[in-house]
Amino acid sequence: MGKPPILETPDLKAGSSHLDKDSTRTPYWLLMATKAKCIGILTAGGDSPGLNAAIRGVGKAALGFYGMKVVGFRDGFRGLIENRRLDLDRSTLSGILTTGGTILGTSRDKPHRMVINGRTRDMTGVIRDNLKKWGIECVVCLGGGGTQKSALRLHQAGVNIVTLPKTIDNDVAMTDASFGFATALDIATEAVDRLHSTAHSHHRIIVAEIMGHRAGWLTLGAGLAGGADVILIPEIPYDVETIAEAIRQRSKHGSNFSIVAVAEGAMSRHDARVFSSAERNLERAKTLNEKLEVKREIAALEVRHQGNTMRLARHLEELTHLESRVTILGHVQRGGTPSAADRMLATRLGTACADLIVAGKYGVMVAARGDDAEPVPLEKVAGKRKSVPPGHSWVESARRVQTCLGD
Ligand code: F6P
Repeated sequence: MGKPPILETPDLKAGSSHLDKDSTRTPYWLLMATKAKCIGILTAGGDSPGLNAAIRGVGKAALGFYGMKVVGFRDGFRGLIENRRLDLDRSTLSGILTTGGTILGTSRDKPHRMVINGRTRDMTGVIRDNLKKWGIECVVCLGGGGTQKSALRLHQAGVNIVTLPKTIDNDVAMTDASFGFATALDIATEAVDRLHSTAHSHHRIIVAEIMGHRAGWLTLGAGLAGGADVILIPEIPYDVETIAEAIRQRSKHGSNFSIVAVAEGAMSRHDARVFSSAERNLERAKTLNEKLEVKREIAALEVRHQGNTMRLARHLEELTHLESRVTILGHVQRGGTPSAADRMLATRLGTACADLIVAGKYGVMVAARGDDAEPVPLEKVAGKRKSVPPGHSWVESARRVQTCLGD
């Protein structure tokens, strides 16, 4: 074994780390035998609480524990094109554990479809060449489903990549959890809690729209924890008459108000059928023109869907004769300080990520598995979505406490 690298900080004390003999992490001697590297970090997709905690986790472990050089790239993958940098030194990494958003900025730019001077271009090769030129050995991408796909493309083009799962939607495949979700769940739960007293006072239906894209985890979790009377998620298409009947039954039994937690992606049975048939048509489309036409059709359906919560509330008012109101929680769910659970998760995954880089394990996402972290090949993650299984224990618990799920 060669001499251990000289570390920039005195943080490394034998026996003080999680790399003890029972750890599932890379052995200490192997890590210390590896030469120092320069790594980049970026955050892509929508921001979520815990991103800074993860940047700090990766950065402090990589810099202070292993003696690497750490560079942050700003505004997602665009930072890799335009060399927008932030040196992640000790002072920059300090004091960010508790802050929301991302100190690096983010964007939804995709390497293979990036708008450069008004033209959409594939910048995959440019990114690979830039990283080589700048001596960046590996890029850590913190992101959700879309970012995992982009990361796989870059990996296949020869870029050393490790990703971390972040999203308030909790829909990244192959990981028990993604950071951002726990905080958003707390925020949405508090909102559902608070809506109870005002709905009760006015004898109203309050329909609370909760984020989650096409997954129902956030709505189901907040609805369960906050005691919503109706929970509507994309995975269980609803029948509006069934919901109205559940609300009427509550009134009959003396509860003249109801809280409906509806996921932004939830749909009536009819709309769900229309969407899935359009998606099937897209899979079957052979020519470019056919594909474009179906894509336009899907885009129009998506625009129409944006008013779904308002329409649902009006419909329920007509059917139950109870006044209804809508609360759209929106980006409040993504803002502010991360919860303790998210800080812990982000720190665990971030530090495990540094271990993997030292061991040269690339092309993987650092997944949360129980109390541990494990690398999962990006091929198994990209393009997959973790939806709520219809028989999931959260769904069954909701049914047992007689919450209406609209089906
Ligand atoms: O993926 C996170 C998320 O907040 C989704 O829940 C939501 O559908 C989407 O991002 C909103 O995106 P934007 O911030 O770009 O409006």
